[in-house]
Amino acid sequence: MTKICVIGLGYIGLPTASMFATQGYKVVGVDVNKNTVNIINNGEIHIEEPDIKTLVQAAVNSKNLIAKTEPEEADVFIICVPTPLDKKEKKAGLNYVISATEAISKYVKKGNLIILESTVPPGTLEGVMLPIIEKKINRKNIYAAHCPERVIPGKILKELVENDRIIGGINKESAEKAKELYENFVEGDIYLTDSTTAEMVKLMENTFRDVNIALANELTKIAEKLNINIWEAIKLANKHPRVNIHSPGPGVGGHCISIDPWFIAEKFPKEAELITLSRNINDSMPDYVVEIIKKEVKDIENPTITIFGVSYKGNVDDARETPALKIIELLKNKDYKIKIYDPHVKEFKYNLITLYDAVKDSDCIVVIADHEDFKKLDIDKIGNLMKNKILIDTRNYLEPDNWGTKGFKVKVLGVPENDIKLSEK
Ligand SMILES: NC(=O)c1ccc[n+]([C@@H]2O[C@H](COP(=O)([O-])OP(=O)(O)OC[C@H]3O[C@@H](n4cnc5c(N)ncnc54)[C@H](O)[C@@H]3O)[C@@H](O)[C@H]2O)c1
Repeated sequence: MTKICVIGLGYIGLPTASMFATQGYKVVGVDVNKNTVNIINNGEIHIEEPDIKTLVQAAVNSKNLIAKTEPEEADVFIICVPTPLDKKEKKAGLNYVISATEAISKYVKKGNLIILESTVPPGTLEGVMLPIIEKKINRKNIYAAHCPERVIPGKILKELVENDRIIGGINKESAEKAKELYENFVEGDIYLTDSTTAEMVKLMENTFRDVNIALANELTKIAEKLNINIWEAIKLANKHPRVNIHSPGPGVGGHCISIDPWFIAEKFPKEAELITLSRNINDSMPDYVVEIIKKEVKDIENPTITIFGVSYKGNVDDARETPALKIIELLKNKDYKIKIYDPHVKEFKYNLITLYDAVKDSDCIVVIADHEDFKKLDIDKIGNLMKNKILIDTRNYLEPDNWGTKGFKVKVLGVPENDIKLSEK
């Protein structure tokens, strides 16, 4: 029976390990975090993600998944550790990949398959991981492949199964071996290539998104100067059969889109001009949002601002690289009183409080993450608790008319003050 050792039991590793376990494989899930290991062995989960708990429980109950803090001998090793951005250097932090590779290399034997799922700069499998493994065993005696993840938080389970996958091997046999494994649960098509191409493909996907969001953000700044509604303009432009302008917003966060383009730029700074500029445009959006906030509360003495949602996008608990953090820190510099409410996020740099406490005596609510919960709020109740009723929506998510009829002054990013709807023009 094939035994799989999955290194890193986070958003990617835990669903992957559980999926293989429920397919009948013996899986040892490894995480350096003891607490995470204990939680998983109790059939619980440490991440918020639909349906994952049921899958993990099934995997643990079947006794096919056991979590440990140390790797052990296996037939397949799958590395799913973080690859954060070194914010100063704008380079991939490969220390987790390196330490995970060192940890498994003690156990790697002839015929083993080593898979890297983490997102990495092009050339990492060949240039960083293989030299570590080759200290123990010649590359001719193992198989190795990069199988990047394309799932989106909030739909991980569905996309893990349904998405097409790219698999890049250090040779043809490695790619084919990895394909054979993933075919167990992947219903999408699986395409084979070499490992550096697979690494670059993953980065290109997120870079495409980042560059297009930057375009939408730049167009938003222009639209506000023109006094036109950017959302309406984008909707109309996208009626063109070959145009797909993305949505503007308060900035790009998360573990992927805001980071991955730098993994290309760090290697090719001269060539990656558009990529770097787009990153910088998206990174400028928190400053832009703060300017909007300043304008809206300029007549209020020592205003209290309530931030709604600090995750990097709606309906997830993930606040990594969230633009909300920069917005909050810029506002704190201005000596505004900041109160933060997020119904999903559990861990954040600043105190998260209840909805009641967050809106009580507040002057202005700023929607940063488009959580569905915000659509179900009792606007009257909230308005009654506030000192001033100002709503700033950076996502064009809430129904401005609903809030407007309840006495709120509403400002939506990219929408002029006195916007008249197309239908009314
Ligand atoms: N989260 C996503 O939606 C997503 C999507 C596509 C790709 N990715 C990529 O997948 C990789 C993993 O991301 P994630 O979101 O699962 O990260 P995560 O932070 O949720 O989980 C990583 C886990 O690895 C553990 N870990 C760190 N070093 C370890 C080591 N040496 N040995 C064992 N465990 C170790 C951590 O304790 C943590 O539990 C990253 O490269 C990321 O860019 C993530």
